[in-house]
Amino acid sequence: MSCTLKGEIELPADKSIYHRAVILGSIAKGKVRIRGISRAEDNLRTIEAFQSMGIRIEEKENNELIIHGRGLEGLREPEDVIDCGNSGTTIRLLAGLLAGQNFFSILTGDNSLRQRPMKRVLEPLSLMGGKIWGRAGGNLAPLAIRGTKLESIEYKLPVASAQVKTSILLAGLYARGTTKIFDPYGTRDHTERMLSYLGVNLTKDKNWIAIPGFPELEAEEIVIPGDLSSASFFIVGAIITKNSEVLIKNVGINPTRTGILEILKQMGAHVEVLNKKENSGEPVGDILIKSSKLKSTELRGDLVVKTIDEIPILAIASALAEGTTVIRDAKELRVKETDRIKALVSELRKLGAEIHEMEDGFMIKGPTLLRGAKCSSWGDHRIAMTLMIANLVTEGKIELDDRQCIKTSFPSFFHILNSLIQ
Ligand code: S3P
Repeated sequence: MSCTLKGEIELPADKSIYHRAVILGSIAKGKVRIRGISRAEDNLRTIEAFQSMGIRIEEKENNELIIHGRGLEGLREPEDVIDCGNSGTTIRLLAGLLAGQNFFSILTGDNSLRQRPMKRVLEPLSLMGGKIWGRAGGNLAPLAIRGTKLESIEYKLPVASAQVKTSILLAGLYARGTTKIFDPYGTRDHTERMLSYLGVNLTKDKNWIAIPGFPELEAEEIVIPGDLSSASFFIVGAIITKNSEVLIKNVGINPTRTGILEILKQMGAHVEVLNKKENSGEPVGDILIKSSKLKSTELRGDLVVKTIDEIPILAIASALAEGTTVIRDAKELRVKETDRIKALVSELRKLGAEIHEMEDGFMIKGPTLLRGAKCSSWGDHRIAMTLMIANLVTEGKIELDDRQCIKTSFPSFFHILNSLIQ
């Protein structure tokens, strides 16, 4: 199929920031208005979790969510197990928050989530005095949490994970003293920005972040930008199709997330950020994309951290680029919603790409004329959307075994994609 993408779109609220707004809004003092809506299933899991802990959350017609925050000590013991579904962010962030409550809770998730590593959060949380148990010696959900009084720690992140960092920061809100975290990787900093915006005296010194225990959180509203990770599917879609021009308005352009824009520019893509501004402590802009001819590149080191969720869609751009693209230092991809290195190698090969698997990444030799095939999403929303964008340029159709998983992050994906197709 060969088509053109044209138009101006706005996307649902950033999933990552939305989780944080629901969590911090629930423990803030009084009513918080969240501007921007996400119906991503992952976000719904977080909302339901707080509703089950006694927080009133109402969706308004004008793309707003009202959270009736009950303060730091206002959560109630949930009557049932909290089901985090497919959401790694929900389970890891809640583990930190619940470690310091004065009640008992259990967190679980779907097949994929119950296989993902949890020791990375249990370890620092138990150093703080947290009492959390899980299967496989504490590495796998379900997690049982006996809330207790916590002590602050100084902790160097052993993995590049914003979920681990945030889990500790949330536990730090309930810890005696000042919790200090060293993040040498520069992982996404939405939590730090939102805590500061809510009035917490969080300080940053080089790669150290310090947060005092028992602060007060308060704000009238939090404005959430469109999701850059969702945008990247249309960004690459517009680049690889002919005569395309797409403007995506009000997208989050936090520099800890913009690796995809940097790397596509390196590859020769026409990507421009316009109308830069700031909303509730987060940088926002409009992104203009035009069809472009791509050349290969190398992605490794710190830039991988800023691009981590966009590597699947980048693989499609790489398969169509002139030359050999190498992506390394991306071992974390193996513990996402699925092993994304394995999934990409398997599915791109079916499309005819020349792709070579490495322990911490892959190598793709382009340009390839991709062809349609019967493919699997591996139950992973980002793999599914990646293949649906590849479908715009393949000779013959890609038949996908499961599209439902796309709802995890982007239920309106097809609706918006279809509105752009000429
Ligand atoms: C996220 C952090 C990243 C990212 C995930 C969302 C977050 O995970 O892949 O989609 O909201 O903090 P890690 O912290 O495991 O790198």
